[in-house]
Amino acid sequence: MKELKKLMYLFIALLAVLTISCTKEGPAGPAGKDGVDGVDGADGSVTCLECHGGDVMEQVRFQFNSSAHNVGAIAVDYAGGRSYCAQCHSHEGFVEWATNGMVADDITAPSAWKCNTCHSLHKTFEATDYAFRAGDAVTLMADGATVVDHGNNNTCMNCHQSRGNGDRYDNATEDMQYTRTFTGEDADAYLNAAVGPNGSVTDNGDGSITVLFDVPTTHVYISSTHAGPHHGPQTNTFAGVGGYSTESGEVFGPHSDGCVTCHMGEASGHSFKPEDDNCLVCHTSVPTSSMDNTADRIHAVGEALEAIHAVHFDGEAWHPVYASLSRENFQAFWNFMIVLEDRSNGAHNPPYVKALLSEAEATLGIN
Ligand code: HEC
Ligand code: HEC
Ligand code: HEC
Ligand code: HEC
Ligand code: HEC
Ligand code: HEC
Repeated sequence: MKELKKLMYLFIALLAVLTISCTKEGPAGPAGKDGVDGVDGADGSVTCLECHGGDVMEQVRFQFNSSAHNVGAIAVDYAGGRSYCAQCHSHEGFVEWATNGMVADDITAPSAWKCNTCHSLHKTFEATDYAFRAGDAVTLMADGATVVDHGNNNTCMNCHQSRGNGDRYDNATEDMQYTRTFTGEDADAYLNAAVGPNGSVTDNGDGSITVLFDVPTTHVYISSTHAGPHHGPQTNTFAGVGGYSTESGEVFGPHSDGCVTCHMGEASGHSFKPEDDNCLVCHTSVPTSSMDNTADRIHAVGEALEAIHAVHFDGEAWHPVYASLSRENFQAFWNFMIVLEDRSNGAHNPPYVKALLSEAEATLGIN
């Protein structure tokens, strides 16, 4: 039924476009070139069919089935409903945010992405009109200033961005002290936490410990086990912003066509998985050794941060821990979180990711 209704809308819209294009025909071409004139609109039906014809939509649906967006595990789980997470984590949240600029209340029954999460209604009916709901330039929320504008990639950039920069944590204007009590496994993890110059750890004798974190203005307090730029800072690394580096603000030229070039290939399409064939358009082979090398460097920086009790590796994943770190060490921590959460091992912006790692390595004394 729904499909039938869609087809009817399509047919009506098609008629409308054809009618408009008939009445809006451009000035007559020079004699003998009548055929060329048609591009003004009479081939609108052909344009429409490029996407709406044959099995294009079916193929897209098939690809989309294997996308994490379609599964929406986190959306349905919890983040999709919470008003301050929903703009990126559920269909309902994104639609409300794109329409009203905010998500006013928690959403009771959040659901995963659908076709019309990203696509909405056509505006111009030209071949480049992909009917994106939020296709305009994006101002990055981390600094409220950097504007990214990369065509169809803008859709992705609304969500795949940091929620904040390091100054969210590095903002103390006076010396501060914080006390926290930890129990169980946490107590083990925090037993040797970085506590600042005059901090202390007290064993309470009942399996719990109490930590006094001393945070003078030379230091920064990591106040959450979820500290960091949030899981998807891909647009920030892509644009070369968000970390602590002397090198910043640069999109890597050769990769500047954006997310779609690598993540939406001939075969992968709406699965959004990077595809080797997309790299081979420019590379003679996929530069895996470069990415493996970057992965090793990220791991080594993580280990050095664990040695100063700034992060904890649980055998599977890295987690921030509460800590009072010198400003330099905090910046190394922040760079680590960015390149870790970026999850491309440098592909998004090879020189920038390498620069962030070099800064962290220099601070932490890794050669
Ligand atoms: C670049 C690809 C593309 C082209 C070209 C295109 N469309 Fe679309 N169109 C889409 C997408 C994607 C959607 C959203 C799909 C969805 O929500 O299922 C859509 C949705 C629609 C809808 C809304 C259907 C609904 O579910 O409400 C109509 C009507 C429509 N298109 C008409 C047209 C017409 C008429 C043309 C030609 C003038 C055209 N389209 C050209 C990609 C395209
Ligand atoms: C600006 C958009 C945005 C906001 C706001 C946002 N997230 Fe996310 N979040 C993302 C993106 C994008 C990913 C996926 C990143 C990836 O796959 O690399 C993600 C991933 C996650 C993950 C999965 C991490 C993993 O390791 O798989 C969790 C959990 C999560 N977010 C929780 C939350 C919670 C809770 C909130 C609200 C407090 C929130 N997010 C707000 C964009 C956002
Ligand atoms: C996460 C956002 C997102 C979702 C969800 C999404 N699309 Fe798209 N879609 C895009 C982007 C981005 C492009 C443009 C790709 C490009 O520039 O080549 C696109 C392009 C298209 C096109 C043009 C032809 C093509 O394959 O490139 C069609 C048709 C289309 N989408 C249909 C759909 C349908 C049907 C669904 C649901 C099954 C869907 N889209 C879900 C982001 C999305
Ligand atoms: C409405 C917000 C939103 C938009 C728009 C969006 N994403 Fe995502 N994306 C997310 C979130 C959130 C996740 C994590 C989903 C989960 O695991 O539940 C994610 C996951 C992913 C993943 C991980 C896939 C996997 O299999 O683990 C990739 C790759 C990705 N997105 C790429 C893209 C690209 C490319 C675009 C644009 C065409 C895009 N995303 C548009 C929010 C978004
Ligand atoms: C030069 C190609 C390229 C460009 C451009 C690109 N990506 Fe990626 N992306 C990759 C590669 C390669 C990976 C690593 C995939 C892996 O390890 O499986 C990746 C990883 C990711 C991941 C984590 C997926 C996962 O399964 O771990 C997300 C999310 C993502 N990219 C989103 C984006 C977004 C959003 C953009 C645009 C701002 C973008 N990418 C631009 C190549 C690219
Ligand atoms: C539009 C062309 C283009 C595409 C598409 C492209 N790259 Fe690149 N990439 C380049 C160029 C040019 C360089 C710089 C020269 C070099 O190192 O080969 C580069 C550099 C890199 C580097 C740094 C190499 C180093 O020496 O450390 C990595 C990693 C990388 N690309 C990964 C990828 C991956 C993975 C894909 C596909 C998912 C991809 N690129 C797609 C053009 C491209």
